[in-house]
Amino acid sequence: MNTRSESDLDNHTVTKAYARWAPVYDLVFGAVFERGRHAAIAAAERVGGRILEVGVGTGISLPHYTKDCRLCGIDISAPMLRKAEERVAEFGLSNVEGLWVMDAEHLSFPDNAFDVVVAQYVITTVPNPEATLDEFARVLKPGGEIVLLSRVGAEAGLRRSLEHWFQPAARKLGWRTEFSFERYTRWATHTAGMRLIERRAMPPFGHFCLIRFGKDGGAVRADDAEPIRAAG
Ligand SMILES: C[S@@+](CC[C@H](N)C(=O)[O-])C[C@H]1O[C@@H](n2cnc3c(N)ncnc32)[C@H](O)[C@@H]1O
Repeated sequence: MNTRSESDLDNHTVTKAYARWAPVYDLVFGAVFERGRHAAIAAAERVGGRILEVGVGTGISLPHYTKDCRLCGIDISAPMLRKAEERVAEFGLSNVEGLWVMDAEHLSFPDNAFDVVVAQYVITTVPNPEATLDEFARVLKPGGEIVLLSRVGAEAGLRRSLEHWFQPAARKLGWRTEFSFERYTRWATHTAGMRLIERRAMPPFGHFCLIRFGKDGGAVRADDAEPIRAAG
């Protein structure tokens, strides 16, 4: 399913953008996304086990996981990942198995390798979001979860117009402003074995969402029967 357009992102633009962001990223995006990150980590820890953080960036989330979780991190930006390596050393994070420069759309992990795949503020920065989600589903074990934090674009109105207008500038900064939630539901509907478990509005301004997808199979967990929470 390819829904790319001229103003969409490419990996060259994104790596250039995050090389510029790396020195100041935590200062600019640390506090503003803190609540979302804590919610995503809590969701991931409910599953536990071996967790892949895609687009781990400066590793800002890594110290907040319990030491019981085994963590792997990948990012396309070497300067962002260097910050993550410094953080792992600084906090003595012995539960981090490794950090690798890798493209989210082409993960060099075997099938069914992780209990959880977490991607915080990443899907709207990759050139092919649906192909990237396919890759997450591939490396996820049956019974595992994909946990996303994502910007969700407005469907209509002034915000929709502003997002459309701002998109060319946002592209140079390394992300999309336009991204409908329908892309996520469509992906789950068309992907065998994957289902949407939860959508929860997140700050700032409720323009972001925590999204959970489950992969069929594996042991049944107590919350498996939970209905979709569609807030925002
Ligand atoms: C907005 S930052 C989010 C960083 C971190 N997850 C956080 O919570 O702050 C997006 C990250 O995704 C990475 N990224 C973008 N495209 C990627 C790709 N195709 N593969 C892997 N990482 C990518 C960027 O380099 C950047 O570190």
